[in-house]
Amino acid sequence: MKLFDVYPLNDVTITKAQGSYVWDENGVQYLDLYGGHAVISIGHTHPHWVKRIEDQLEKIAFYSNSVRIPIQQSLADKLGSLSGKDNYQLFLVNSGAEANENALKLASFHTGKKKIVAFNKAFHGRTSLAVAATDNKNIVAPVNETSNIDFLPFNDEAALKEYFQTNGNKVAAVIVEAIQGVGGINVASESFLKLIRNLCDANDALFIADEVQCGYGRSGKFFALDYAGVNADIYTMAKGMGNGFPVGGILIAPYIQPKHGLLGTTFGGNHLACAAALAVLEVIEKDNLIEMSKQRGMYLINKLKSFDGIENVRGKGLMIGFDVPEDIKDLRKKLLMDYFIFTGEAKPNVIRLLPALNITRKQVDEFLDTLNEAIEEMKAPAPNEEKEEALINEN
Ligand SMILES: Cc1ncc(COP(=O)(O)O)c(C=O)c1O
Repeated sequence: MKLFDVYPLNDVTITKAQGSYVWDENGVQYLDLYGGHAVISIGHTHPHWVKRIEDQLEKIAFYSNSVRIPIQQSLADKLGSLSGKDNYQLFLVNSGAEANENALKLASFHTGKKKIVAFNKAFHGRTSLAVAATDNKNIVAPVNETSNIDFLPFNDEAALKEYFQTNGNKVAAVIVEAIQGVGGINVASESFLKLIRNLCDANDALFIADEVQCGYGRSGKFFALDYAGVNADIYTMAKGMGNGFPVGGILIAPYIQPKHGLLGTTFGGNHLACAAALAVLEVIEKDNLIEMSKQRGMYLINKLKSFDGIENVRGKGLMIGFDVPEDIKDLRKKLLMDYFIFTGEAKPNVIRLLPALNITRKQVDEFLDTLNEAIEEMKAPAPNEEKEEALINEN
């Protein structure tokens, strides 16, 4: 049977991983500044994470949500204390799209309304409502098209106010990434996020913070929205939550009432996923990884800003992007194939850095030196050009 060919693959087979390094089948070592797409939060195969999963596996891996699963409560308690949202409620799922799907649905149940506001360049996942709220026509199937979602320009306060003036009473939720990931590392301004909060309050709508990529300590705070000093009504999480074990969740404000049967999932919150997610939080807490992400991120951003050849360095914590000019447009590929460094991309010309939160200073320096070398090599004139230039100069 063939695999359904939907992924444009890099020609690399990874067979081993540890911390911020991975190795291919020939034993070649790669530095991972991509974190498997912002998923690896505490480092590949972290020993505490491995042990917790192994221990849990020996006891019980799965039973359905029809019985008590105490490890869900342990996870909720730890999540409440690390995120500072201990009065919120936790609903566990398996992925980012599923988290957003449930958040949007819950907002509609709660408000009794239908309109969702999303923003240009947003990415919220590939299931029906999540993909409809994603600003990429190529991945929205005809069956997912809906007039219930309206897209507004990101960071445009005037457009948001104007929209709410005419449509405010129909809005169930505004969904926003405080730092857009797939869209190219676009940071929402604090005043824009505060305005969303105010307009949602004034119009009885819910504020959904999609923290699937920018959350869980990546930005240097537990949630990237925390920088704006306002709370969302619902936070969605996945990626870094399990360090590679598939787990997602939504944090739900205390005034949103549950009802039996309102939401549900077979696999969400299973014992094994909770063990993996607890291990992640324990390591984040013990090793102070949120502060680490902030410090390393500041160091990396400052250094990158002094680089010739790349443009518009931006981001927070270890969620960093920069533009790659046309003359070195293959930089990401070169870093991977010639220098063995994984980075992420966003179309058309952005390199995204999403390393593990405990990447070391030495590894960051290794990356910076290599990046410099790669840029210099790409900018250096080809030998023939050099000769031609010399001839021109001679003449
Ligand atoms: C901000 C954001 N939301 C949602 C998703 C979807 O998550 P998943 O692929 O786990 O469904 C992603 C994935 O990249 C994301 O970046």
